[in-house]
Amino acid sequence: MLTLGIETSCDETGIALYDSEGGVLGEALHSQVDLHALYGGVVPELASRDHIRRIVPLAREALERAGRGLADVDLIAYTEGPGLAGALLVGASVAAGLGIALDRPVVGIHHLEGHLLSPLLADPPPEFPFVALLVSGGHTQLMAVQGVGRYALLGETVDDAAGEAFDKTASLLGLDYPGGPALSRLAATGNARRFAFPRPMIASEDLDFSFSGLKTAALHCVRKHALDDALRADIAASFQAAVVDVLAAKCLRALEATGMSRLVVAGGVGANSALRERLGSETARVGARVFFPPARLCTDNGAMIAFAAALRFGSAPAGTEGFGVRPRWDLSSLPSP
Ligand code: KG4
Ligand code: ZN
Repeated sequence: MLTLGIETSCDETGIALYDSEGGVLGEALHSQVDLHALYGGVVPELASRDHIRRIVPLAREALERAGRGLADVDLIAYTEGPGLAGALLVGASVAAGLGIALDRPVVGIHHLEGHLLSPLLADPPPEFPFVALLVSGGHTQLMAVQGVGRYALLGETVDDAAGEAFDKTASLLGLDYPGGPALSRLAATGNARRFAFPRPMIASEDLDFSFSGLKTAALHCVRKHALDDALRADIAASFQAAVVDVLAAKCLRALEATGMSRLVVAGGVGANSALRERLGSETARVGARVFFPPARLCTDNGAMIAFAAALRFGSAPAGTEGFGVRPRWDLSSLPSP
């Protein structure tokens, strides 16, 4: 089965073709980072307009790379939510239009399910069950994953997402939006022991997170000092160490609480190399294993949407599922396939 995946939930337009036998055949992606950088965050209306401009040329590009034509597509999958309503509607409209024109089924996919299952595209893929840490710009969640569509929420952030904390702290340090990758590059040159930032909720018995206090601590630190390059690097390193400490501690607690031995990391912050190294060593210490999606699949992309649809619908379902978006959508409410 050849699945066309369309991702437009936020600031990346991603298109990919996934073949159930041959894997990802072709991908095309456009990031709107430069478009929004001027404003220090995603401007929803600009995001929607840019998706409209990019989506058809990107679909052509992905098909060309895959060496396939639209007539070869068996199933069309798009991100139904959660995300920005206007941005989601662009992908939903194109998917619905293609479905009618090609007479193919159209299915809506949960964006976080895409992230959650993308580590299965790694070689070798993790086996079920596993604990999943979803860390993106909008989410920080620990889930127990028994199989496709069988997700139980173990804990989540009570305020900011980890990626959001990275982005806001990066902005305090004068780094362009989204600052996560730039902050982590800066951190590599700094002294992580220079500032003892708080590790919010690290000792709490639950599996929840909180990052807004940490961000505020970084704000006070920035205000108190005259910033030069060395100090900015030390703040970045100390901040990153605090986030990594908390994420690692809660992941280990989740493995212990569930009795599972596999940890899967998904979402944009999963690209952070300090987090990857730390989770690698900590899981090894307790006899568990950690799996990461290939780095290019950590951030938003079309392949994870096509892949999640292919797993959910082993063969193309009859008829279209209709047309809709769900800007707010709880992952635990998804039915099993
Ligand atoms: O999953 P994603 O692409 O989009 C959402 O669905 O949110 O995640 C984007 C987030 C941003 O906050 C970005 O700063 C963060 O992931 N991010 C990173 C790194 N790469 C991306 N944060 C820390 N270190 C990185 N290397
Ligand atoms: Zn995402």
